[in-house]
Amino acid sequence: MGLNYYQIKKNVRRARRLVIEATNTAGSGHPGGSFSMAEILGCLFNKHLKFDPQNPQWEDRDRLVLSKGHAAPGLFSNMAVAGYFPESELSTLRKFGSKLQGHPDLKCPGVEFCGGSLGTGLSYSVGIALAAKIDSKDHHVYTIIGDGESDEGQVWEAAMTASKYKVDNLTVFLDRNFIQQDSYTEKIMPLDEKLESDDITEMWKDASRWKTGDKWRSFGWNVIEIDGHRIEQIDAAITKANTVKGMPTIIISRTIKGKSVEHMEDNPAWHGKAPDTDIIPIIFHELDSQFMISPSIIAGDMSNLENEIKRCVNGRSDLIHLDVMDGQFVSTKTFDHNKIKELRPLTVIPFDTHLMINDPVKHVKDYIDAGSDIVTVHAEVTDESSFGEIHDILKAHQVGVGFAINPGTELPEWSYKFLSTLDQLIVMSVVPGKSGQKYIEETHEKMAKLKNTLKKYAFSGYVEADGGVNLENIGSIFLDGVRVFVGGGAIVAQQDVRTAIRDFRNEILKSRRRVLLQQSHRLGLLEKWIDLHVLSEKQDQIKKIAQEEGFL
Ligand code: DX5
Ligand code: ZN
Repeated sequence: MGLNYYQIKKNVRRARRLVIEATNTAGSGHPGGSFSMAEILGCLFNKHLKFDPQNPQWEDRDRLVLSKGHAAPGLFSNMAVAGYFPESELSTLRKFGSKLQGHPDLKCPGVEFCGGSLGTGLSYSVGIALAAKIDSKDHHVYTIIGDGESDEGQVWEAAMTASKYKVDNLTVFLDRNFIQQDSYTEKIMPLDEKLESDDITEMWKDASRWKTGDKWRSFGWNVIEIDGHRIEQIDAAITKANTVKGMPTIIISRTIKGKSVEHMEDNPAWHGKAPDTDIIPIIFHELDSQFMISPSIIAGDMSNLENEIKRCVNGRSDLIHLDVMDGQFVSTKTFDHNKIKELRPLTVIPFDTHLMINDPVKHVKDYIDAGSDIVTVHAEVTDESSFGEIHDILKAHQVGVGFAINPGTELPEWSYKFLSTLDQLIVMSVVPGKSGQKYIEETHEKMAKLKNTLKKYAFSGYVEADGGVNLENIGSIFLDGVRVFVGGGAIVAQQDVRTAIRDFRNEILKSRRRVLLQQSHRLGLLEKWIDLHVLSEKQDQIKKIAQEEGFL
């Protein structure tokens, strides 16, 4: 079974948009804490949680307790995406008579707990988890607590109780975003080490200052620490937690308050404030412009691919691009599913398998079994019937469905009907066969033309650029609508993969900020938008781009 990576990503994005809309309509609410736990809820709702929106009281459902109840917009948005109620109902958030109040309330079917009175959700969770044991039920309890909430003594009483009674059917997420209502958690009541300055990135950089895990361990808990925005880490942590017997698990998830909207990120002001209506189009554009880096390991040492994977892991890549070449579809031969299977245990980072082979329909199952999370096949060697088969088997295994076209190939008409459910479209920008080639400039035009077709057929996946992407052209490739960037020569062939990936990200970010500045300029909101970025370093960088554009 694959990770279902792109589907989760898409639904997380959808839920974030709904949070923005709902809090804006309400004129109040909590986007910051809804966004810090967005990927956690995305993984639960789209992968792990057992539930039935048609039958919210189904006895064997898993229980999700949102103890940090102020993040209700995040919960409700996921419930809407999951089908508990129409998305349009989110416009009633915080209105009299609505079931969607500022904090979760049992009058909303599917809500398990009236959160908001902070500190009580964990006690409640221990209770229902113990009750499940007494009743010999095997459903699981997932609970989300906040770091500000952890100031409450009751959290620690519950922690002791869960450990004493070996409540192993309970998994807790600590949404460790370092910010509570008034300020940084480390200033108000340190969970890690006291923060002297105003720069919370200090806490991020230095793992030796993290003490929260030790606290929970000393209370008898199984502790897993992750980056709470990495879908694959959340997924792996949940899977691991479910295997641990005799003790409860806490997944300490390092997160960013307001994650995905730059001006909200790490800014305490967005704990409980609604975005203004005029800014929303810019926020939506930003949410739709998230991007991923997928290094191609064949650009490295082919005799030691294990090491190439490790370099990508160390470089914090989003995906790992695996170019399978069979010596027939392309003249080169690289590796097959057996190698992928060998590499799989080295990391949980999603495998983005690019099949440059003949007759992919005959082999696709092998690549699923080898542990691919996305499998891309080529238009030149598929037709409506074989691609239909490939599409269905990938979907059934929660593996992302990718389709690739060579430089000389147009999107075949038969493929249009698959576009709305396609997860990834690779538009090759070199003739496939090897890394280190030059980007074919005509690809820009091709992308511009493709845009209309993709829109017309409701493509909602990610476009991946593959071949010759480098620091010079990556900004313009982003402007073409590409959101996943393969890098062989410019990343894996470099000595320092980590720096190369960081440079890729910075270039894309610059290009994205430029687009958002242009948009805010068009809307007459330039200064307002710039001023929203209160963290000085960010604002300075944005101002610099605005100056380059001649806006300031
Ligand atoms: C080409 C492959 C690419 C290639 C990328 O056939 O599909 O993934 O290795 O390498 P660069 O970025 O060097 O073109
Ligand atoms: Zn490739």
